[in-house]
Amino acid sequence: MKIFLDTADIEEIRTAARWGVLDGVTTNPTLYAKVGGSYDEILQQVCKITPGPVSAECVSDDVDGMLDEGRHYAKLAPNIVVKVAMSENGLEAISRFADEGIKTNCTLIFTANQGLLAAKAGASLISPFVGRLDDINQDGMDVIRDLVEILTIHEMDAEVIAASIRNPLHMTQAALAGSHIATVPFKVLQQMVHHPLTDKGIVQFKADWQKAHQAAAAKA
Ligand code: E4P
Repeated sequence: MKIFLDTADIEEIRTAARWGVLDGVTTNPTLYAKVGGSYDEILQQVCKITPGPVSAECVSDDVDGMLDEGRHYAKLAPNIVVKVAMSENGLEAISRFADEGIKTNCTLIFTANQGLLAAKAGASLISPFVGRLDDINQDGMDVIRDLVEILTIHEMDAEVIAASIRNPLHMTQAALAGSHIATVPFKVLQQMVHHPLTDKGIVQFKADWQKAHQAAAAKA
C-alpha cells in the first residue's frame, strides 16, 4: 500500500521522505492557502523531494479553464498529476487529459458510482473523501471498499486514494479495505509512528542499559 502526504508544507514532506515512507503527495487549494507563496514553486520543490505522483489541483469550473491549468501544471515536472473535481465538465477534462497523456486524480468523490465514472473517463487516481462522509454520519470506508471491489472485478487500472483521512484508525481501515493508496496529514503519520508502550519501552531500555554499564564500571 502506498502512503501519500496530504500537505503543501515542504518541511513535513522532507521529513516523511527521510523516514522512507513517502510514495507521493496530494495538495489542494486549502492546503496551499495554509502555506502561501507560489503554488508553482511549491509543486516544483515537492516534485524534487519525491519521485512519486504529486497532485496539483485545478480550480476552474469550465473544461477549457481546467485544460489550461492542468497543462500548465503538467509542464512543471514529470511526476505532476492534475487533480480535477468530479463534475460533468471535470469528466470531460479528465478524458481530454487522458488523450494527451496527462495523468489525473479525480477528487471530491463521495460515491462508488462517481469513482466508476472517473475511472471510465481515464483518471489514474480516484480520491473518495472518507472523513467528510464520516462527518455527515455516512461510513466513508464503505465507498473505499466498494470502489476497490468494482475496479478489481472489472479489471480497471485506476487506483483508489483514501483521502480526507482524519486519524490512524482510518489508515488501518483503508489498508484493510484494499485501498491502493491513503493520503494522510503529517499529524496522522506521526500518530501512526507512536504508541505509549513503545515510547515507555524506549525510555526503560535506555535506563536499564545505563544501570548495567554503571554496575559493570563499579565492579571493574
Ligand atoms: C486530498 O486529496 C484531499 O484534498 C484531502 O484529503 C481533503 O481532506 P479534508 O477533508 O480533511 O479537507
